[in-house]
Formats: sequence, structure tokens, C-alpha cells
Amino acid sequence: MCGIVGYIGKDNAKEILLKGLEKLEYRGYDSAGIALENADGVTVFKEKGRIADLRNIADDSDVDGTLGIGHTRWATHGVPNHENSHPHQSATKRFTLVHNGVIENYEELRDEYLADVKFLSETDTEVIIQLIEHFSNEGLSTEEAFTKVVELLHGSYALALLDEEDSDTIYVAKNKSPLLIGVGEDFNVVASDALAMLQVTNEYKEIHDHEIVIVKRDEVIIKDVDGNVQDRDTYIAEIDASDAEKGVYDHYMLKEIHEQPAVMRRIIQEYQDDQGNLKMDDAIIDDVAKADRIYIIAAGTSYHAGLVGKEFIEKWAGVPTEVHVASEFVYNTPLLSEKPLFIYISQSGETADSRAVLVEMKKRGHKSLTVTNVPGSTLSREADHTLLLHAGPEIAVASTKAYTAQIAVLSILSQIVAERHGKEATIDLLQELAKAANAMEAVVDDAEFMEQIATDYLETTRNAFFIGRTIDYNVSLEGALKLKEISYIQAEGFAGGELKHGTIALIEDNTPVIALATQENVNLSIRGNVKEVAARGAHTCIISMDGLNKAGDTYVIPQINELLTPLVSVVPLQLISYYAALHRGLDVDKPRNLAKSVTVE
Ligand code: G6P
Repeated sequence: MCGIVGYIGKDNAKEILLKGLEKLEYRGYDSAGIALENADGVTVFKEKGRIADLRNIADDSDVDGTLGIGHTRWATHGVPNHENSHPHQSATKRFTLVHNGVIENYEELRDEYLADVKFLSETDTEVIIQLIEHFSNEGLSTEEAFTKVVELLHGSYALALLDEEDSDTIYVAKNKSPLLIGVGEDFNVVASDALAMLQVTNEYKEIHDHEIVIVKRDEVIIKDVDGNVQDRDTYIAEIDASDAEKGVYDHYMLKEIHEQPAVMRRIIQEYQDDQGNLKMDDAIIDDVAKADRIYIIAAGTSYHAGLVGKEFIEKWAGVPTEVHVASEFVYNTPLLSEKPLFIYISQSGETADSRAVLVEMKKRGHKSLTVTNVPGSTLSREADHTLLLHAGPEIAVASTKAYTAQIAVLSILSQIVAERHGKEATIDLLQELAKAANAMEAVVDDAEFMEQIATDYLETTRNAFFIGRTIDYNVSLEGALKLKEISYIQAEGFAGGELKHGTIALIEDNTPVIALATQENVNLSIRGNVKEVAARGAHTCIISMDGLNKAGDTYVIPQINELLTPLVSVVPLQLISYYAALHRGLDVDKPRNLAKSVTVE
């Protein structure tokens, strides 16, 4: 979380930085700031709130520069206000810094080296910048002071530093937090992700943890921890800049919901060979097929996709599978099987909670597979294997197309592992996924009807319940998460049979209860649960599947393979949440307190 940009070249840095920050706003939007350097020195503009607020003050000023750094913040240390916003400056204002991450030993460093320094903010970042000045005052060059401070830091960081006395350099370093160098003709850039700088270049260089990078207009010097210069090839970021635009849609979330059928079809293409069979790297299948138990590790929506993935792996491939919330697993690791394999599911590939598990399980020698949408992301680089989602950039904070893509990719993996285990395929998966894509399309075409459901059920309510049994229960958890994330309606997903064991006490007149009924073996029992809440005044909405539907159901999704129903049954829930938030006048794409990429534990 938090996004960083930097530019050094010949053009107007202000506009490039602001545009870059707009693309990074998904990483945090509590405050934003830029620092511009020119012959007169460094000028900082920063403001609590969105990039648009920062743009207003930056555009009002004539100050410009051909190098600068910028930051969009998701607050960790200190409330979102002007003082805590980045960039931060040293006491003399010679040094200016932006930082993404969390420094665990900032209090110790402050007490040891900076007892006499007066701090303006509550941030860990200010300790870094004051420390750089401290060592510079002791006679170190800027590069030496920066290197020394980086060596002292414990925690996660991506850093970009300006020195007022050197208008030809941005100093950069990272550990655990993402940061890339973009290269161009007579300019270079720094960014938390490639999307931010696609406006000027699509050619990038990776930086590794603990390296020190000296970025100048015409060169980029990467040094390892021992100061040895590293040769590093560039790569082309294969992202279509228009994928990151809203196009005809009012919000990214709506666009991304609508993209789901196309993403399904892309996944079918990517995981299919010329003969129309399922295709996957043999090395991945070898490792997964060797496992006696699979551990799926994830957070948020990706965790919910993992719950569905478990169903495929157990039912099709016959491999016992556990799904764990990453932030819990790392501190409370269960007894593991003899031959475990870890699957990390993460849209961004950067989630610190999941990475913490990966680092620990790697130390124990356990094999890992990352399922992610972002090639080259940290979890992808650090795992033994990667399966890509091919979903295109997901910008809205509330995840939609990544969830369905994760489920589709896990279904393919499960079928291939089942084949490897010699199990007879009971379905033609590619054909079933194609059917699911068509069904998704039919549901998004009914968006207006979902808007009506949002109006009828959620316009004024303070809470809502989603219920389902078996795989529908997994989807109800995701439906509830979507609704609470963006509409701030208190929403919970419940196993239909569990409601009566406590939560039913919350049902009053008109409490919305949205039930999923797409599974034949529990069709009658979930409908029984709906009757129980209806008898207590609930305003019930049933989303069922063609073939299992009954008179009075609110919405019926087309018939598809029962295990694959989450791909389709989640779509009405995504749309209902979208419209509920929209009707409340909320910022659908950037809900309060959240960030898309959570790089703090
Ligand atoms: C954040 C986002 C969620 C997301 C979760 C996991 O909390 O707000 O939308 O599901 O992180 O992210 P990941 O990138 O690992 O899938």
C-alpha cells in the first residue's frame, strides 16, 4: 500500500508525477504529495485527501522541475493529515523522501541516533529522512548515508530520495515493497507498478531487495549490498494502457464486472493447447501431484476464491486441501502433512500477509505455487511456480474479475492434477467454462434488474445477510464482503443451517436476507432456511439456478455445472453491491479505509 513515483529527465515532472499518482491511487488515498526539484531547490506540495486535491494546489503554483518524486498514502503511522503526508523532509530540508512500507525499528533508531531532533510528523518515514541527514552531517556522501540508513532499517520499504544539492539523481531502494525502474531516452522513472509510468515508457528494470539504485537522466546504476554494480536487463511491460482506463463505464468496478466473460474466454485460450486440451507447465503439475495435502493461503476476496478452489481440488483431484487466512497462518501454523504444497492466491501478488507465509514456508523447504494477476509481482517471483489469471489490470479496490479468474484457474489446475492422478474426467472443463462465460454474460446483461434489487432491498438498510449451503455458502461470504466493502452496509455471509444457532436473533422486520440456491443436494434445505427467516419478518431474495428454481425466486441464473456456479452466482451479488453503493452516493472504486494492494502485515 502507498504508491511511489519518481521522474528524472528533461520534461515537466509535475504532470508526469501527478498522472502517475492517479494510476497508483488504488494503493491508498488518504493523502498525496509531490516534491519537485529545480535550480531554486526542492518544493513540496502535499494534501490530505485524493490526488485531485493535490492537483488543485500543485496546478495553482508556477513551480516546476525536471526531477521529482511523488506519493499516495494509505496511513499506517499517524492519522491522515498534512504533517503525516509524504514527501517528508529532513530538518534543514536538504533531503526529501517518499516511503512505502513499515519500518519496525523506527523508534529504536530515533532513540539511538536522533534524540535531539524535533519531529514534525508521527511517521516512521520521518525517522529515515532525519537519519540520512544525521549521517550526511557526519561527513558521509549522500549515497553513503542512504546506504547506511537502508542497512539499519528493519521492515518493509520502497524509498525514493532527493538531495537538494544534487539535481541529477534520485536514490532508490526497496525491501519487500514493490518498486520498479522505468527506462527511457534521456529520462528514467521509478514506480510502485508499471501502470503508473506506462504514460512515458513500457520498458522496465526490476530492483531486488536491499539493492541501492542511483537513478540519473541517462543511466541507472544498481548496486548490491556489497556495493558491486549489477547488470540488469530490461523487460517490456505487456500491459495495454487502455486496459487501465474506465472507457465507457462510470466506474472501474462496473467495467471489471462486465469484463468477466471476456476474462473467462481468455483463460480458456491461455490454458488450452492446439488440440483443445487443457495445458499447464509440467513442472507445476509434477509438484502439485506429489503433494499429500494442499494448503491454500490468501486474504480477502482471494481467500474466498480459495474456498471454492478447495472444492475442485478435493472433489476432482482427490487431494485433501486446507484454506487459510494468511495473517492467521503465519502466527498459528497448523501441523503440516508430510508432503505439503502451498498455493498462494493473490490478485496483486504483493499482499504482505501472504508473503510472510511464503517466506516462512520456503525456509521450511515447502514448494510453492502463486496464482496471481500480476506477472513479476513479489509472490510470483519468490514462489517456485506461477499461474497467471490473465484478467488485465484490476483497478477498483473491490475485487471482481480477479475472483472469478482465480476460481477458473484453480478449476483448470484441479482437472489437470486429477488427470495426472489417473482419474477419469467427469466433465469437459473447457466446454463448461465456456458455458459459464456465456452465463456470466447473460447476468451482466441483466444489470438493470440487479439495480432494482439494490433499490428494493438495500436502499436504507443498515445490515444485510447472505446465506447459502456448501459452495453457495462460500459465495455468500464473498457477496457479503463486496457489499460491506463498498456500501458500508454491515453484511455477513452465513451457512444457511448455522443461522438458527445465534444470528437469527438479528432478523427483524425487513432485514434483507439474500439466499443462493444453486446446489441440488441442499436446494430444499436452503429454502427451508429462507422460510425460517421470512417467518421472522426478513425481506428475502432468492437467487437460484435454472432447473432448481421455484416460483417466486427473485433471479435465476442460467444452468451450468454445479461446482462452477460461483463463477456466475457471484455476478448478481457484485452488481447488487455496486448499485447499493452507487445509490448511497459513495466512491465505489475507492471505498474508505481500504487499499487495493496491502503491503503491510
Ligand atoms: C485487500 C483488498 C481486497 C483483497 C485483499 C487481498 O484487502 O482490499 O480487495 O481481496 O487485499 O489482496 P490480494 O491482492 O492478495 O488478492
